[in-house]
Amino acid sequence: MLAVHFDKPGGPENLYLKEVEKPSPGEGEVLLKVVASALNRADLLQRQGQYDPPPGASSILGLEASGYVVELGPGCQGQWKIGDPAMALLPGGGQAQYVTIPEGLLMPIPAGLTLPQAAAIPEVWLTAFQLLHLLGNVQAGDTVLIHAGSSGVGTAAIQLTRIAGATPLVTAGSQHKLQMAEKLGAAAGFNYKEEDFSEATLKFTKGAGVNIILDCIGGSYWEKNVTCLALDGRWVLYGLMGGANISGPLFSKLFFKRGSLITSRLRCRDKKYKQMLVKAFTEQILPHFSTEGPQRLLPVLDRVFPVTEIQEAHAHMETNKNVGKIVLELPQ
Ligand SMILES: NC(=O)c1ccc[n+]([C@@H]2O[C@H](COP(=O)([O-])OP(=O)(O)OC[C@H]3O[C@@H](n4cnc5c(N)ncnc54)[C@H](OP(=O)(O)O)[C@@H]3O)[C@@H](O)[C@H]2O)c1
Repeated sequence: MLAVHFDKPGGPENLYLKEVEKPSPGEGEVLLKVVASALNRADLLQRQGQYDPPPGASSILGLEASGYVVELGPGCQGQWKIGDPAMALLPGGGQAQYVTIPEGLLMPIPAGLTLPQAAAIPEVWLTAFQLLHLLGNVQAGDTVLIHAGSSGVGTAAIQLTRIAGATPLVTAGSQHKLQMAEKLGAAAGFNYKEEDFSEATLKFTKGAGVNIILDCIGGSYWEKNVTCLALDGRWVLYGLMGGANISGPLFSKLFFKRGSLITSRLRCRDKKYKQMLVKAFTEQILPHFSTEGPQRLLPVLDRVFPVTEIQEAHAHMETNKNVGKIVLELPQ
């Protein structure tokens, strides 16, 4: 089968399609023929040699895929049958023509969505769901500040915040991205390149601050984050795009807010945790992708690239051009 490959860490120019051995499903696994996968920041980091896949995971890039079940491994419980369309959360291996996956990590495709749209769901929607509900304990009436509001995770988090009955605020680096976030439901957006988002957030919340911050930036935002966190607020750190080092009185500022700093990494979680997350998301959130009601959820697709243009797709994400997800179509 063909798979996205690189021989040495470096830039997007190192990526190419390589003929590799097709995997075969082990105990409790199914084989998915991949129609589409999607790109994540983790792929960029892995390509640069800064993010190894967890032990036992495929070294092929790709944290999510959609396609058709084509083979069942021994011991499968009958949840899936040959020919079923499905989408999957993966620790790696999605950017290939076939991938194996534990049957409990597959999800049905919501009615009305195409397979490329479905490929944009697993990684960022499960991440946003987990950050908001399992870690941030979002409550109706809360205000949630979502950084990188037009990222894959951000576009999912805005919509999930709305259906939780909470108010999403976002930051982003351009007017266009802020407008897209507002169309998805953000109550207000702040351009972090032009204004101090913590002042704007305090103004919006009449001095109270936000109950939850979903933070994939880290270092460069720490002081502004803690300044606009409400009393008893939850600051959920899940990325370090703004660096890992800080200098200043983080502990005292957090302490006087009685704030919680919570960190999260989904890819390296064990199978049991991921299965619990997939089950909760499938039951509680997936039906909202199919309904025609006012709160219908939508995966936001920026562009669909044929996987032969994998270098262009990486460069597009690396230069922060995307709003929502970059999807890759595999040859059939
Ligand atoms: N921990 C986990 O389990 C987990 C899971 C999934 C994703 N993540 C993390 O979530 C983040 C978003 O991932 P994604 O795939 O959704 O990203 P994405 O769609 O590529 O969007 C990322 C956006 O972040 C903004 N950005 C980049 N560098 C920045 C900086 N230094 N300061 C402020 N904004 C910056 C850019 O938008 P602007 O133009 O607005 O600056 C960029 O377009 C990444 O950090 C990723 O590693 C973590």
